[in-house]
Amino acid sequence: MQQQNNFSNDVERILLTRQQVQKRVEELGAQITRDYQGKDLLMVSVLKGSVVFMADLMRAIHLPAEIDFMMVSSYGAASKSSGVVKIVKDIDIELKGKDLLIVEDILDSGRTLSYLKELLEGRDPASVRIVTLLDKPARRAVPLQPDYTGFEVPDEFIVGYGLDYAEHYRNLPDIGVLKKEVYTKEV
Ligand code: IMP
Ligand code: MG
Repeated sequence: MQQQNNFSNDVERILLTRQQVQKRVEELGAQITRDYQGKDLLMVSVLKGSVVFMADLMRAIHLPAEIDFMMVSSYGAASKSSGVVKIVKDIDIELKGKDLLIVEDILDSGRTLSYLKELLEGRDPASVRIVTLLDKPARRAVPLQPDYTGFEVPDEFIVGYGLDYAEHYRNLPDIGVLKKEVYTKEV
C-alpha cells in the first residue's frame, strides 16, 4: 500500500460512480419510505462498512426512523467469514415491536447476516428486513435473500463508499475494483 496518498492508483476500474450510487440510494429510500408507512422503523447499520451507505440512505427515507449501530467480527481467518460471529458492539435500543431494517454494505457468503438476522429475530421485533447496497450472489454459501438490493456485483474485490481492504479505501467516494497486485502483495 505504497500510494496511500493517491488511492486511485490502486483501483483497477470504477464499477459504480458516486452519481450512480446516489441515484440508486434515492430510489431505495423512496421504496423503503413507501413500505414503512405507519411502521416503527429502526435502521440498524452494521459497522464499519455500511456507515457511508447508512448516512445517505437514512436521509433518503422520509419517515421518523430511529437508528442504531452494531459491530460484529467473525472468528477465524480475517479474509474468510466463518459464520461464527462475535458481537463487538450491540444495539442500545429495545427491539420489541420495532420494524427492523438491517443496513449492510455487501452481502457475500451471507453467513454474517444470516447469523445476525436470527439473533435479532430472537428479540421479539415486529419484523426484520435486510437492505444491502451490494450483492455478490455468486458467492452465497447460505440461503439468504436481501429484501432490498442496490446493485448486484461480480465476484471481485470491491472497495470504496465504506468498503475496505485491510481498513483502507473506505473513504473512496466511488465504488471500485481493487487491483489484484494490491491484495496479493505481501505486506
Ligand atoms: P459474509 O458473511 O461472507 O456475507 O460477509 C460479508 C462481509 O464481508 C461484508 O460485510 C464485508 O465486510 C466483507 N466483504 C465481502 N466482500 C467484500 C468485498 O468485495 N470488499 C470489501 N469487503 C467485503
Ligand atoms: Mg461489513
